[in-house]
Amino acid sequence: MCGIVGYIGKKPAFPILLSGLKRLEYRGYDSYGFCVLNAQNEPFLYKRIGRISDAEKELLDLKVEGNIGEAHTRWATSGAVTNKNAHPHFDCSKNIFLVHNGIIENYQELKEKLIKEGHKFNSECDTEILPHLIEKYFEGNLEEAVRKALREVKGTYGIAVISKKDPQKLVAARFSSPLLLGMGQDETLVASDPTAIITHTRQVINLDDNEIAVINPNNFFILKEKPLVQIEWTPEEAEKGGYPHFMLKEIMEEPEAIENAIRGRVMVEDGSVKLGGLDVIAEKLREINRLILVACGTAHYAAQVGEYMLEEYAGISCEVDIGSEFRYRKPIVDEKTAAIFISQSGETADTLAALREMKKKGILTLGITNVVGSTQARETDAGVYIRSGPEIAVASTKAFLGQLATLAMFTVFLGRQRDMALVMGKRIVSELSKLPELAKKVLKLAPEIEKLAKKYKDFKNFWFIGRKYNFPIALEGALKLKEISYLHAEGIGGGELKHGPLALIDENFPTIAICPSDSVYEKMCSNIEEVKARGGPVIALATEGNEEIKKIADEVIYIPKTLEMLTPILSVIPLHLFAYYMAVLLGKDVDKPRNLAKSIVVE
Ligand code: AGP
Ligand code: GLU
Repeated sequence: MCGIVGYIGKKPAFPILLSGLKRLEYRGYDSYGFCVLNAQNEPFLYKRIGRISDAEKELLDLKVEGNIGEAHTRWATSGAVTNKNAHPHFDCSKNIFLVHNGIIENYQELKEKLIKEGHKFNSECDTEILPHLIEKYFEGNLEEAVRKALREVKGTYGIAVISKKDPQKLVAARFSSPLLLGMGQDETLVASDPTAIITHTRQVINLDDNEIAVINPNNFFILKEKPLVQIEWTPEEAEKGGYPHFMLKEIMEEPEAIENAIRGRVMVEDGSVKLGGLDVIAEKLREINRLILVACGTAHYAAQVGEYMLEEYAGISCEVDIGSEFRYRKPIVDEKTAAIFISQSGETADTLAALREMKKKGILTLGITNVVGSTQARETDAGVYIRSGPEIAVASTKAFLGQLATLAMFTVFLGRQRDMALVMGKRIVSELSKLPELAKKVLKLAPEIEKLAKKYKDFKNFWFIGRKYNFPIALEGALKLKEISYLHAEGIGGGELKHGPLALIDENFPTIAICPSDSVYEKMCSNIEEVKARGGPVIALATEGNEEIKKIADEVIYIPKTLEMLTPILSVIPLHLFAYYMAVLLGKDVDKPRNLAKSIVVE
């Protein structure tokens, strides 16, 4: 370690520096030196190997004028004990003079760069890169140049710096090596420790790491330099927020997708929702007695969940179809029919074709869309944006949850226009508001689900079974798995197993059974038993606290309790994670699976 003393004030600096340095000699005595700026801002620089206490006589003979300066006693870490390696060090133009305590770890790299930029070095000492680096950035303001220079430095430092071109200023900075300011009467000192200044003042300010003190004769201020954090991501990784794949990032954003969909739209107090996009047709919606929901792929499964919600809680007749089939039908519609089109991209050709077909028939068309200004958003009479944010991965995940949350709100909207009681509206809206936190809890299962994927990664076929609200989730879980892992996976209603699919079950054909504690739980347990009786492995998704399920299923993934109509929003999350980890384990291109595209704009 070494000793640093600096002074700026009304008195001659040299005697104060000398006496302070002598008190710091215990910190290192390979060499000593000092630099004082005189009234014409000319520097007096003096440095020698040896102990300052051995040179007191000749030093007192020196005629040194000026009220600002710095001094240093060295304990060498980089560069031999020579006069040239003694501090203060200076830049090419002899404008900047600096003393340093610490080690610059990346000085060789910085020195090479500075030499390439034309700087000439006088010493072998690591410290000398500092005045040259400051010189590189010096445009008249010393502290600004110091700040920029230190951002490139790795290692430890306590420094004091003066400049003849920005005179009457002492800049001090610290990272890891101690440095303090001594606050005197019309004078300020800088020192490595209090012993150097105690005869002048007992009022000190200890600098903290990344602080830069700028000291003038009459005042001072301290800059807090926030350390630069080096982002190691590639530009694409930056978009991925540090996740290895967009799909994982978007699964991790699912709680936020729910939050974004409901934010500012759910009124817990009066058990209602505010969907601004429906204001223009709110009165027309009162007259509607039938809904047709049309979508493709994952959005189609959202529509199927919506059908259960709207029938059970809004008391409105619903029908669901896939866009690619609906357009060939001759649906029976009238002025009391409305069509709802669900699409993440808002550009899916099959869905748009069905939309245009419905518009030709003159019925009311609504959109549930993620992409603002998309074709669907523009061509429907009204709609609701799910606000999930950009979804990049081909496999739709967070948008699905945004669609389900929006359908739940739409259910309350229509229900409260009809005979849904205040208490029921409140219950649904209140439970909906809790879902983002519950979804975060489910995401914490990720490591457990990754383990499950490792256990099942060699299987080639999977059944996904569910009933009622979770039948569409079985379809969605199967779609997710097949589209990114290329494994064969099929979703079916639990009740359908015995009508044929059960024939496929054996020990090589696992079944994922979605069986929260809801109105069809017992029936789902029977399905699990049917599968087990044929030796099929069963992974069950069950409600937290259900110990019974462990007696019949091989594995159990628990999800938090919520309203039956809202369980799909939680039960789908483990299935998204399972599909993701399986695809990663199988080395598939998770974000861009073969043969697929994000938005199917062809029919
Ligand atoms: C879902 O993971 C698939 N990428 C696909 O089924 C998708 O849901 C379907 O193409 C519909 O897309 P949309 O929601 O943009 O209309
Ligand atoms: N690394 C610098 C040198 O070797 C400073 C060492 C010290 O803290 O004394 O000169």
